[in-house]
Amino acid sequence: MTRLLGLMSQPLLLHSLTEMKSVVRGCLEAAQARTVVEIGSESGANTRELLSFVGGNDGELWCVEPEPTLEVEQLDGQEDGLHLVRGRSPEALTAVEACDAYIIDGDHNYWTVSQELDHIAESAEQLPLVLLHDVCWPAGRRDMYYAPGALPAGAVHPHSWELGCVPDRQEAIEGGFRGRGSFAIALNEGGERNGVRTAVEDFVEARGDLRFVVVPVIFGLGVLYSATAPYADALDRVLGSLEGNPLLERVERNRVDLYMELLEQGDRVSQLGLRQGRLLAEYDRSLTAAETEAAALRLEVAKLRESARARDSVDRALS
Ligand SMILES: C[S@@+](CC[C@H](N)C(=O)[O-])C[C@H]1O[C@@H](n2cnc3c(N)ncnc32)[C@H](O)[C@@H]1O
Repeated sequence: MTRLLGLMSQPLLLHSLTEMKSVVRGCLEAAQARTVVEIGSESGANTRELLSFVGGNDGELWCVEPEPTLEVEQLDGQEDGLHLVRGRSPEALTAVEACDAYIIDGDHNYWTVSQELDHIAESAEQLPLVLLHDVCWPAGRRDMYYAPGALPAGAVHPHSWELGCVPDRQEAIEGGFRGRGSFAIALNEGGERNGVRTAVEDFVEARGDLRFVVVPVIFGLGVLYSATAPYADALDRVLGSLEGNPLLERVERNRVDLYMELLEQGDRVSQLGLRQGRLLAEYDRSLTAAETEAAALRLEVAKLRESARARDSVDRALS
């Protein structure tokens, strides 16, 4: 039982960078990063993890998040090494000092990620270490938007807050993986200027002096660094066996497929529940109508009896 509860306290779908903390830490150590920027903190679990890393190196962590949770707010109050910037990247990055490493996990779309990479590239002569989450399915080739209204009009693909996506299918569909109101997804996958990975690849192509390594698990971790960085070989050693690893790819595909199956079953149960609810409501309406009719008939019968009794007493009086 304890074991079962332990399992249930785990998120059903692993999605946080904390799940890859050994790789993230390995990269930060290889690059001897002392100052780190985290874009997108969500629950703050990864912020905590990064704080323990920079704290051990007497370093600093900048966290950019438009909607920090209470936990992140509290961390900000307690930890000297943490600087919380409440705002939206890329604009909010102007309030952040140039750092040794950047972890991009905020708004997962081409425009935002491209702007973030441009900003980081301008902060130093040589591109600092950049780690990016969500370079594989679903956001690798399909934009997702937390706040499409905050982006320039031309930067936003046609999108939906309700529809979802499934692997190997370009167009968005009813059901599938979706934001349930917390983020919207582009109606189509692929094509130009669409998705996190496309943004990184276009950035790399425009520069030519970079290495981009993809660890294909938990939605994909991308590691971007200068091929001539003093720590490039150390990073190659950390990432060598993980880069494009077919076993990780297979496990990732399997977990995504299983999750899709679970979502589909859940949607089916909800549909059944809805149908059952509609039937019950219909039954309830018919019952109410029948009861109203029965009450009207009872009244009618009572009136008829009353007039029969009145007629009887008149007849008796006359006879
Ligand atoms: C996928 S979650 C981050 C998860 C976290 N890094 C982890 O691994 O546990 C994305 C976060 O980015 C934030 N966000 C959305 N748009 C952003 C933006 N433009 N700049 C910074 N953060 C953003 C969201 O509020 C959300 O908390």
